[in-house]
Amino acid sequence: RTVLLLNGPNLNLLGERDPAQYGTTTLADIERRVRGLGAELGAAVRCEQSNHEGVLVDLVHEARGYDGIVLNPGAFAHYSIALRDAIDAVDTPCVEVHISNVYAREEFRHTSVTAPVAAGYVAGCGVFGYELALRAVLHRAAEAEA
Ligand code: DQA
Repeated sequence: RTVLLLNGPNLNLLGERDPAQYGTTTLADIERRVRGLGAELGAAVRCEQSNHEGVLVDLVHEARGYDGIVLNPGAFAHYSIALRDAIDAVDTPCVEVHISNVYAREEFRHTSVTAPVAAGYVAGCGVFGYELALRAVLHRAAEAEA
């Protein structure tokens, strides 16, 4: 199995960015953990991060034929129709992750335009949410086969 772990804008700064909201784990640590869990569960995890909307769209397209996408769209969740349409256009199931509990924060974070086309949604579980999302997307792939 193959899964794309995709992180959007500003998530390259995890570890130093607003630790009260996002903790001190770096993106490299998250990628290592998710890759490790993937190895345990029999999945190869490709890890990508971009600050650019179009690059994220391209990467979602590249995940056609993969078993799943674990996506933290960052702020693009709140307004990128292009990213929403990309997720909608591919058959690959996508589980959206937010490290923070976006519903406990500013009102503009309460809307996700990507969530309605995602297969699942995890928020407020900290960086552990990435592992939950990987498990969920692989569970779904296994069920789809059964
Ligand atoms: C975030 C929440 C978004 O509102 C914010 O713009 C981010 C990070 C999260 O993981 O909690 O960049 O997606």
